[in-house]
Amino acid sequence: MTRSKHHARPQAWSRRNFLATTVVSTMSVTLLERSEAKAAQRPTRVDPRAPLKITMRVNGQDRQLALDARTTLLDALREHLGLTGSKKGCDHGQCGACTVLLNDRRVLGCLTLAASVEGLEVTTIEGLAAPDGTLHPMQQAFIDHDAFQCGYCTPGQIVSAIACVNEGHAESDAEIREHMSGNLCRCAAYPNIVAAIKQAKSEM
Ligand code: FES
Ligand code: FES
Repeated sequence: MTRSKHHARPQAWSRRNFLATTVVSTMSVTLLERSEAKAAQRPTRVDPRAPLKITMRVNGQDRQLALDARTTLLDALREHLGLTGSKKGCDHGQCGACTVLLNDRRVLGCLTLAASVEGLEVTTIEGLAAPDGTLHPMQQAFIDHDAFQCGYCTPGQIVSAIACVNEGHAESDAEIREHMSGNLCRCAAYPNIVAAIKQAKSEM
């Protein structure tokens, strides 16, 4: 059979062609393997908006939540658990209205990520009274001394005051003022707050 003049003539197969083809194929396979290995090592990107499942222990109870990883402890308490006692004053760590206890140490809920408190004990103002409703001595002392006016700062003041006493920083009026200085009161109930803390200290 004769070859049509429109068909290309097969290229002559030479030793040079063979070697060139072999080298190129080997390099391609090696590069492909390397890029696959790199892709396997590369950490998978996490969408920060994807809900994060966490278990928070709040006021003695385990609470399961699915939260945006950027959710603050304050928002988790208020918006997701309905514990609205802790207040959002500034949301910038400046007023102390959001103070809660984390393993008995005071922290600002607005500056703490909810995801970071897993495994720790969170205590809010709602968790202070006894199961029968008896108020914590600090809560009672605030009532006895009229240590609030509008009450917006009061949950943070009470929680902070308990830690202040437990830390041993309530030995004098000056020391109480110093160690309660992170809790602002726009109604300026400061003298009554100091008096309440002194009363509760003797009962705690
Ligand atoms: S709301 Fe957290 S410090 Fe003001
Ligand atoms: S009682 Fe009003 S801000 Fe403190």
